[in-house]
Amino acid sequence: VVVVLDFGGQYNQLIARRIRELNVFSELLPHDVSASELRAKNLKGIIFSGGPKSVFAEDAPMVDPAVFDLGVPVLGICYGMQLIAHTFHADVARGAVREYGRADLEVQPGASKLFAGQPTLQPVWMSHSDVVTHVPEGFQLDAKTTSGTVSAMSAPDKAVYAVQYHPEVHHSVHGMEQLRQFVFDICGCKGDWTMQNLISESVDKIREAVGDKRVLCALSGGVDSSVAAALVHRAIGHQLTAVFVDHGLLRKGESDAVMENLGGQLGIDVVRVDASERFLGKLRGVSDPERKRKIIGEEFIRVFEAESDRLGPFAYLVQGTLYTDIVESGTKTAATIKSHHNVGGLPEDVQFEIIEPLKELFKDEVRRLGEELGLPSELVWRQPFPGPGLAIRVMGDITEEKLAIVRESDYILRQEIAQAGLDREIWQYFTVLTSNQTVGVMGDERTYAFTLAIRAVVSQEGMTADFARIPWDVLARISTRIVNEVDGINRVVYDITSKPPATIEWE
Ligand code: XMP
Repeated sequence: VVVVLDFGGQYNQLIARRIRELNVFSELLPHDVSASELRAKNLKGIIFSGGPKSVFAEDAPMVDPAVFDLGVPVLGICYGMQLIAHTFHADVARGAVREYGRADLEVQPGASKLFAGQPTLQPVWMSHSDVVTHVPEGFQLDAKTTSGTVSAMSAPDKAVYAVQYHPEVHHSVHGMEQLRQFVFDICGCKGDWTMQNLISESVDKIREAVGDKRVLCALSGGVDSSVAAALVHRAIGHQLTAVFVDHGLLRKGESDAVMENLGGQLGIDVVRVDASERFLGKLRGVSDPERKRKIIGEEFIRVFEAESDRLGPFAYLVQGTLYTDIVESGTKTAATIKSHHNVGGLPEDVQFEIIEPLKELFKDEVRRLGEELGLPSELVWRQPFPGPGLAIRVMGDITEEKLAIVRESDYILRQEIAQAGLDREIWQYFTVLTSNQTVGVMGDERTYAFTLAIRAVVSQEGMTADFARIPWDVLARISTRIVNEVDGINRVVYDITSKPPATIEWE
């Protein structure tokens, strides 16, 4: 395993994921894990992630110094490089620059193996304010930017390497090659970790944890909970009962598709509960997005408890929580952006123990896992859909009429996107009912109706995103159809913000 120590950067999990793309198992651990805990693992290398703090801050996260004596290579990234610099007494200028975004890297002659076979001038992606001004004793300078910032250094005899930029993001064009050099050439990993291994490891773990107890699964209709159910089903078969709560906030046609795919094709025991009135009742008059999430998360659990009493007893509850949900809900060190309902909305007094078999995986890994498990491809490739469903796509308070507008317009959008052959390349595409009313004219009559927004983004993993460049004529067709076919809408706008600064969902 290559362990990534988490110093709270937004990209820390991405590093682990990039390593796994190289078929090397990687996990993210808290920065303060002890060297003896690490020694107990089949450890091949350690990466220090980036993080928001300065190493000079009073509460700056540190590592157990014995980590440097484990006899495995260390790679520091961004904050990780600062930490190495600090540990080895380099000169560091505090807050001397604010370097965010693209920079051009000049690899020095005689640079470490990290840069073997790569161009000497390459674009990288930076995000830092402290800078190393002189490399520590025993280290060599491997690269600087064209503006002179020390950007990579190493002490190959100590097997310590450090880079100031983020090799894990796509904008660092040769970053993946550097990670490859690190795990294979420097750490000596073999690259034999695959989806099949992941399945057999998870199946073993689930069997061991569950024993002969019965397990209840929360099916939401999305990719994540479906794959989680299929994985647990693979492990324990009919010990699993899947409860599918139709909270009335799903897309058109979705509820029946879930029953057909998971119950019918895969043979999972699925019980469908129509709880829409209950959810809509609780949500009536609620307009704050975080409150909506909390209510929905809590009602989910309550419905499961009721089903559990009826069908049980069950000892465990499966949830399709992904890594991104956890990172964005705030880890020990990362800042909270939104409390995704799978995590933040969970009430404290749940009666089940929770199993989250996907919590270390990214969306595309979950899709590959789903394919390996034999899920139908239209399900596996379905766009991500948030747990709180259409509730966070109606701005402000929710009514049946508003939900109908979102459901019908979303259906039209999906039809047109599929028709244009764009459904695989766009990560998510949906409509948002704004609370804004504007004046229009239809058939010589003045109208005063709602504005509908279309949101469509391309993304690798949902952590960052850019708006999709949908051709104008496709957008024109979508707009015309929505205004003509959906009552209550007289204006359609297209959201052209990326994430960050916006998020993908509007709430
Ligand atoms: P944002 O809006 O934070 O979304 O950029 C990132 C990804 O997460 C999904 N999302 C959610 N998923 N519960 C979920 O299960 C939630 O409360 C939630 N909020 C956002 C969003 O659809 C996107 O894929």
